[in-house]
Amino acid sequence: MPQSKIAGIGMYVPQNVVTNQDLTQYMDTNDAWIQERTGIKERRYAHRTDETTTTMGLEAAKIAIERAGTTAQDIDFVVFATLSPDYYFPGCGVLVQRALKMKEVGALDIRNQCSGFLYALSVADQFIKTGMYKNILVIGAEKHSFGLDFSTRGRNVSVIFGDGAGAVVLQPTEEKGAGILSTHLHSDGESAEILAMYNPGTHANHWTDEPYADFDDAPIAQMFMSHQMIDHAQNFPFMDGPAVFKKAVVKFPEVILEALDQNGLSPKDLNMLIPHQANLRISQFVQQKMGLTDDQVYNNIQQYGNTTAASVPIALCEAWEQGKIKSGDLVCLAAFGSGFTWASALIRW
Ligand code: UT7
Repeated sequence: MPQSKIAGIGMYVPQNVVTNQDLTQYMDTNDAWIQERTGIKERRYAHRTDETTTTMGLEAAKIAIERAGTTAQDIDFVVFATLSPDYYFPGCGVLVQRALKMKEVGALDIRNQCSGFLYALSVADQFIKTGMYKNILVIGAEKHSFGLDFSTRGRNVSVIFGDGAGAVVLQPTEEKGAGILSTHLHSDGESAEILAMYNPGTHANHWTDEPYADFDDAPIAQMFMSHQMIDHAQNFPFMDGPAVFKKAVVKFPEVILEALDQNGLSPKDLNMLIPHQANLRISQFVQQKMGLTDDQVYNNIQQYGNTTAASVPIALCEAWEQGKIKSGDLVCLAAFGSGFTWASALIRW
């Protein structure tokens, strides 16, 4: 059975740099708070109309395809991970298929938020291993800036997130012990509502004790997105930050160790850990708990903020471009986020 290898990797971030100081024009926040609590100095925001989640994904994809030494016409499957799609439906995958003039290949969208890229990678890995596909394009991209509450009410969420995209092309390799060694996926829906964007949705407050105020007045159940939701800012993401933080620092090490254990390896064997860039404090906590050195962990949240499904491929691409990941290196990718869902992938580069 072949293994999958990352044959090409690319990233794209918008040119528009937004500093912590820039955000103080819109909300009561300050550079010291943001840096101290998250490590973030600046992030990128997409152009309001010229750049979408899909167009950023396309830019990253073109680089990955070229570096893989292939063409868009040879791609036989697309997996696109995002929580900020261009349309509620259809997904971004078909927009990529159209824009790159691909053959009528399958296109799958993944909705697993921060761990979306790892879920996408794992799906693609299975298709390569079974021999079903030979060139799979995996993209993680987000345009968060279009859907954040930039008033003081939303500051705990808005200062964290940024826009960008990363992509890889997976191909089969017969080289023993090379490529993706294993992937590990987990979920626990018990806390689904503590990091979530409830609307638009069909929930009608079914999962919470909140009364659904407008419902009786509606002629039929057409309350997908109501004026009341907008007036109460229920169209923005909600996050109980401290609760997410507490769970993240437990689940990150757990899923990294799971990957290492399954392959008979230990943290000292790791050349590079690429954690999802949720918060620099989370990455530092994980590094310390696992006894890793600064050279064994790559972080770039300082420049880009948290780009959710894009954060792992962007960090992986940057680390590789900077020569910090070389052929034969043991690389672990790990993520935790909304759902909760969490995941890891262990790769012999
Ligand atoms: O990738 C998705 C997964 N998400 C995460 O992993 C996020 C995990 N959680 C976190 O990163 C942190 O919880 C945050 C960075 C979101 C928040 O940091 P914290 O140290 O947990 O702060 P907090 O939410 O407990 O808030 C502390 C104070 C509050 O004020 P009071 O009540 O103590 O007066 C907040 O209102 O900080 C205030 N605050 C802010 N102040 C200035 C919250 N956001 C801001 C802000 N600027 N942007």
